[in-house]
Amino acid sequence: MPELDIHLDETDRSAQLRADAYAGLLAAPKWLPPKWFYDARGSDLFEEITRLPEYYPTKLERDLLAAQADRIAAITGARTLVELGSGSSEKTRLLLDALHRRGDLATFVPLDVSAAALADAVALLSADYPQLRIEGVVADFHQHLKLLPGSGDRLVAFLGGTIGNLAPAERARFLAELRATLEPGEWLLLGAGLVTDPQVMVPAYDDAAGVTAEFNRNVLRVLNRELDADFDVEAFEHVAVWDPEREWIEMRLRAARAMSVTLPAIGVTIEFATGEELRTEISAKFRRDLLAEELAAAGFNLRHWWTDPAGRFSLSLAETG
Ligand code: SAH
Ligand code: AVI
Repeated sequence: MPELDIHLDETDRSAQLRADAYAGLLAAPKWLPPKWFYDARGSDLFEEITRLPEYYPTKLERDLLAAQADRIAAITGARTLVELGSGSSEKTRLLLDALHRRGDLATFVPLDVSAAALADAVALLSADYPQLRIEGVVADFHQHLKLLPGSGDRLVAFLGGTIGNLAPAERARFLAELRATLEPGEWLLLGAGLVTDPQVMVPAYDDAAGVTAEFNRNVLRVLNRELDADFDVEAFEHVAVWDPEREWIEMRLRAARAMSVTLPAIGVTIEFATGEELRTEISAKFRRDLLAEELAAAGFNLRHWWTDPAGRFSLSLAETG
């Protein structure tokens, strides 16, 4: 097991899960934050999603990184690569290789809330990049950005479209906090899904093999294990819908029958009516102007913008102003 820098230990994690479950499950409509999908099994399921024929974001982003990594390395000259919500860091190897080819790279800082995914990634990367200093950080990018190591020479990668899993207000706060931790001349590389045909977007979140449904239901397994809850996981149906006004995909879990669920760890029993839905994730899709505005509002200048030919996924390279 590689050594990780732990800003979010088991006690913090458990306290936050209790607080989030209490706030979200007693709300109307019910909801849960998406970060709780990612225990070891959830992270594995996400990796499986990235290999599904319907799930296009990972493949498009990988192609964009392959095409632009040398340019990104030349433009940024970064000596420290930080990756937020790094997961397996598979695609990130394209950036590591390009920065390494230029001879600039000294340190890689993958940061993730999932200790299991991070430990696996750091073990594999350490074997493949023996000269690189790798500082894996278990942390929440909503809370611990101030603690990011390095200064003055960083490129922060936030890939996969994970920015879309943040609600608009949360996104504005996240970008402003990130900007506040960076120094002038440092860089943000942002991967973001774009608004495209719902017939392409919806199947990416509702695949024929049912892997996304398992990923979605995994949050209930996390609550059962960590909060001693008694969700009948199989009694919840996976739902993925495109909201054309808010331009996001919403994932929900729909109760197939009326149920009482007890969560002894937080001392509550909650009721689900037949057909009642619990929101588990939003995955916002963007347009260039909106993203440029949001970046500017947080103090980032959008310097480069790359997309696939069909305009389904984007990579933005923004500099701290
Ligand atoms: N960047 C990878 C993984 C995307 S999946 C890719 O592009 O394929 C989203 C990742 O973000 C998961 O590894 C999850 O554990 C992590 N994550 C989700 N919420 C987080 C949070 N609040 N803080 C830190 N990491 C988070
Ligand atoms: C991590 N994140 C960008 C994924 C997405 O596409 O919103 C999570 C995911 N949810 C369902 N499938 C994949």
